[in-house]
Amino acid sequence: VIALPDAEQAKTTDVLIAAWNALGAAGFTRSDAVVTVGGGATTDVGGFIAASWLRGIDVVHVPTTTLAMVDAAVGGKTGINTAAGKNLVGAFHPPAGVLVDLDVLAALPVSEHRAGLAEVVKAGLIADADLLALLEQRPHEVLDPASDAVVEAVARAVQVKADVVSADLRETPDAPVSREILNYGHTFGHAIERVEGYRWRHGDAIAVGMVFVAEVAALSGLADDALVARHRAVLTALGLPITYRGDRWDDLRATMSIDKKARGRGLRLVLLEDVGRPRVLAAPDDALLHEAYRRVSA
Ligand SMILES: NC(=O)c1ccc[n+]([C@@H]2O[C@H](COP(=O)([O-])OP(=O)(O)OC[C@H]3O[C@@H](n4cnc5c(N)ncnc54)[C@H](O)[C@@H]3O)[C@@H](O)[C@H]2O)c1
Repeated sequence: VIALPDAEQAKTTDVLIAAWNALGAAGFTRSDAVVTVGGGATTDVGGFIAASWLRGIDVVHVPTTTLAMVDAAVGGKTGINTAAGKNLVGAFHPPAGVLVDLDVLAALPVSEHRAGLAEVVKAGLIADADLLALLEQRPHEVLDPASDAVVEAVARAVQVKADVVSADLRETPDAPVSREILNYGHTFGHAIERVEGYRWRHGDAIAVGMVFVAEVAALSGLADDALVARHRAVLTALGLPITYRGDRWDDLRATMSIDKKARGRGLRLVLLEDVGRPRVLAAPDDALLHEAYRRVSA
């Protein structure tokens, strides 16, 4: 057993070096496997340890947070943080298996469970209308990790992510189903996280980010106002935030430009024409972005 520091403190080069030393001391070979047990920070760093040891040995993830179950453990991205930024060093290393045991969520603070549900909302919005309907109709049940509704919600969200990454593991530019759609709400969400010095939960930030892009879609004439209202309603029902302070536009805009998802110099946003109908908007108009920000400003 290699015990890791909590949360982001695990995603460091010090932890990597200690783990490599431990694997060396244990005589780990190509027929051994790393098993991670923890939240997304653990599956990220544990996955990277497995990706780098002997140029890649198997990893099995046992995610213990809602976010890790539906997102971090599924999809093959692993990595650590460095002085240059979060998640800039890593490898694609799909797990040999993922074991999701929902009983572990009984110990998880509800605020963490709720933040993980933001990614479940995203999965529903981009690809699964039935999942979205479940969240809209039974939000209180979904907030209870012991409910049957959570079993269905988590299974459906995992399926959405697995389908997308099976079609396009490495986010290739012209894939028929691009992994890029998983970035829904993330460009603005990442900007909030950065501007807030990572004191906001990821799920809270992308909740606001999804309302922001929904507003961009409506302002661009791609989606109707009812779709924006649906975003606000389902996120509010789950207790997730839908607004952000109104005096940070310059910082947010600058941060969005350097988001690692931006291609070259241009900004690319994933928008929805409707539930399950994502498309990419390249080089969106600045005035329109500013207006969308005004609409999500508290
Ligand atoms: N690789 C990917 O595709 C991907 C996708 C999304 C997020 N991530 C990464 O995942 C990380 C966030 O993951 P997270 O939200 O799971 O956070 P986390 O791993 O930091 O865990 C959050 C907190 O919950 C605690 N915890 C975990 N399981 C628990 C349980 N069952 N009961 C009680 N407490 C528990 C942890 O100790 C920690 O304090 C970030 O580093 C992010 O970059 C990766």
